[in-house]
Amino acid sequence: MIKNAQAKRAKKVANFIKKQADVRPILGIILGSGLGDFVENIENKRTIPYSKIPYFVKTTVKGHTGRLVIGKIRDLPVAVMQGRFHYYEGHSMGVVTFPVRVLKHLGIRCLFVTNAAGGINPKFKTGDFMIIKDHINLMGTNPLINQAQNGFIDSEFEPFINMTDAYDNQYISLGEKTASKSGIRAKKGVLAAIQGPIYETPAEIKMLRRLGADAVCMSAIPEVIMARALNLKVFGISLITNKAGVHLCHENVVKESEKNIERLGRLLTGMIERIKKRGSIY
Ligand code: HPA
Repeated sequence: MIKNAQAKRAKKVANFIKKQADVRPILGIILGSGLGDFVENIENKRTIPYSKIPYFVKTTVKGHTGRLVIGKIRDLPVAVMQGRFHYYEGHSMGVVTFPVRVLKHLGIRCLFVTNAAGGINPKFKTGDFMIIKDHINLMGTNPLINQAQNGFIDSEFEPFINMTDAYDNQYISLGEKTASKSGIRAKKGVLAAIQGPIYETPAEIKMLRRLGADAVCMSAIPEVIMARALNLKVFGISLITNKAGVHLCHENVVKESEKNIERLGRLLTGMIERIKKRGSIY
């Protein structure tokens, strides 16, 4: 099998990280805008700034600190990305999803993605969580296109990726159960992703609703596609930070996320506790 540059680099970077942290993570978590303080839930933390990680780029968006935190949550070894890279920052899809390849080489078997999203479903309120049951990729590209720049070859995955059940059904029910036991409002829904960095017009939101989207974001979906290509189980959760298609600014999105960190922490640590108990789920 021809090794492409991304695959080789990911392995190298994972080895570099392994030298700096004793814990071998099973679960990866990517934290969205303003959700970075979730790392307070991690014990025995080893924190590595992205600036120290080869081939990781800078995070430029407010609410994305730019650190990889490795440690344990409820005794489960985790690697948590405190901030992500976005397509709208001008990065290629390869760069945006490179950390997922690295996490895979670190040994994770499942990936939790979190993000801020605008609510489209009229039943959704600001501050609700939406467990992602499916997605609509409207970014006009995806991270699996010509990664090798060498024809249709990537040493890490097959060319045609199945996206039915992209979001693991066991995790979806675990998320729902944990939310309801913890008294946290969590709906299920379909997430659409647009390129950004512009928010949508009211007409665009009408269109997205007709297409079947319950919420809209500018991230997460490329990471999910890469994770599925790498055969990782995926759980996705969006925090509804605003009603979509109305006046808003990124500062308010980040503020809303920060307000809900404690609830996200309870939900995810609750899920992790149950995953750890069952063992077989990952
Ligand atoms: N649209 C797109 N992305 C978002 C939104 C939105 O309304 N809110 C948070 N991320």
